[in-house]
Amino acid sequence: MSVSADIESRIDILELASRYVTLKKTGANYKWLSPFKQEKTPSFVVSPAKNIAYCFATHRGGGPIKFLMEVENLEYREALEILAKEAGVELKTGYRERERDAGGDIYDLHKAAKDYYCRTLRKPEHADKLAYLLDRGLSMETIDRFELGFADGGKPHWTDLQSRGFGEKMLLESGIFSAPWRDKFTGRITFPLCNFTGHPVGFTGRIIGSGEPKYLNSPASQIFDKSSILYGLHLAKSEITKADKVVIVEGQMDTVALHQAGYRYAVGISGSALTRDQIRLLRRLTKNLYLCLDTDRAGVMATFASIENMINEDVNLSVIRVEGAKDPDEFLKAGGDFESLVRSAPSHIAFFIRHAGERHNIESITGKKAVVDELLPMLKRLQSPIELDLYVREICRELDLGSESVYEALGRYRIKPTAVVEPENENRAFGLTECLIGYLAEYGYFHLFWENFAYTVADLPESETTILLRRLLDAGDSYTQREDLDLDRIKSLALAIQEENADSNTETTETRFLSLVRSLNKSIFERERSRLIATMRDASNADPTSTMQAYESLLKKGKKLGFL
Ligand code: UTP
Ligand code: MN
Repeated sequence: MSVSADIESRIDILELASRYVTLKKTGANYKWLSPFKQEKTPSFVVSPAKNIAYCFATHRGGGPIKFLMEVENLEYREALEILAKEAGVELKTGYRERERDAGGDIYDLHKAAKDYYCRTLRKPEHADKLAYLLDRGLSMETIDRFELGFADGGKPHWTDLQSRGFGEKMLLESGIFSAPWRDKFTGRITFPLCNFTGHPVGFTGRIIGSGEPKYLNSPASQIFDKSSILYGLHLAKSEITKADKVVIVEGQMDTVALHQAGYRYAVGISGSALTRDQIRLLRRLTKNLYLCLDTDRAGVMATFASIENMINEDVNLSVIRVEGAKDPDEFLKAGGDFESLVRSAPSHIAFFIRHAGERHNIESITGKKAVVDELLPMLKRLQSPIELDLYVREICRELDLGSESVYEALGRYRIKPTAVVEPENENRAFGLTECLIGYLAEYGYFHLFWENFAYTVADLPESETTILLRRLLDAGDSYTQREDLDLDRIKSLALAIQEENADSNTETTETRFLSLVRSLNKSIFERERSRLIATMRDASNADPTSTMQAYESLLKKGKKLGFL
């Protein structure tokens, strides 16, 4: 068992949650008004059996650590320490003992590895690697400030760390080595990834010149979680509070380039979108977030996903687009004026509308209406009427509309589950995939799923939730032992499903589950059907006969499943 799981198992979630709210028993669980928002009907549920406390209105909470982090606005480590004390687990000694068994302190190990890489980069024999960075326009001062290094191969590094007392087990567990003597980052420039306090907890390695993969990252570990780390935050935090803003870019080189150009309030995310955890970390420093992701399609998609995540998080998000360049690094190199981009950055609403404006003619009534329709799901999710009012006003300004028409459209709008169109899905707070995850986890309906799912996991759409579903299906009944699963999330979904079925008998519950599986089949079927129809309509289709055949066999499948 991990240290955190050990601590959580000793904490009584009911007792912990009742420090913040009064709880009332309803069936197997306890319910009350949420500590995360003002509300009239209770949406906060505590399950002693699952040891979680979760608010269905704000989707906050989870196991004891997560709950405490969110309710007190703490970092993971802080919450862990508080609960360790309460649980009577001596974290320091407990940790140290475990670490002595494993051969050293994991933080010390990362620091020693970082130092090793730094020394190596600065050796005369590796002058060509340093030259690569200087050629890319980095100054020696920047290279030092970000503690960039070079991994020269496993053997000397491994030996160096062993001579400092780190044991083989610890070296392998750190994720820095793939096998004894085999440094995962060999031949790469290393960027230490540090936590809020500045301790290195992982690395990113960039290949020198071109090659694949361009960047390699440390695997997730006890101290490293990619989705809650922001690159450069420890160097940027005081500047962020001073400037009362933060610029978020994609990746290491862009962060470094912005810092070097004097924008020391920049931080980097790795790949995908800005997560809720990252937003909450930044919110403690400033509420003014400027998102400046790559200008390619992936960057735009990630911008939209980040906007999704900032809803109801009480921050102001603006979007910077470095027009004419791939990323901020290129923009600065071309002599672009970043400062003025920051000053004139549109709010996320304005960004959204301008983006929609590329598809609709927003001078026309139908165009305006179409854009408002696209905005409704977001507006519907806003919990604060004041915030809603601000959003609506901005929409009206951008589209030159009166606010009554937007409110009127909003009144007519009904929330559709986000995953797919699915009339049978009763649970409006969650998407289809999330509901399926909840049923599988709560009732272990794995066999039922496989008996009735008409496709394969490869046919599931790509999204964060379907990845979770895939992993859960892959793990089956033993999912609680899997390290790569977000158990807090799964348990929260299981709790939602348990609540929904509190008064149902087994048969009703199974029927509900089966109708979800059917919706899933249907959505995959419909997706395939529209794809084929589009191909058939496409005049440049090279092989219309086989498209027709594919369509015919699809129709057969649809009939068999009862969709036609
Ligand atoms: P980019 O491909 O945009 O790289 O990936 P970049 O930041 O412009 O870097 P340079 O200028 O080519 O050196 C953006 C970010 O996505 C992650 C990295 O964090 C990277 O900084 N990434 C990219 C990976 O994790 N792996 C990859 O193979 C590529
Ligand atoms: Mn770049």
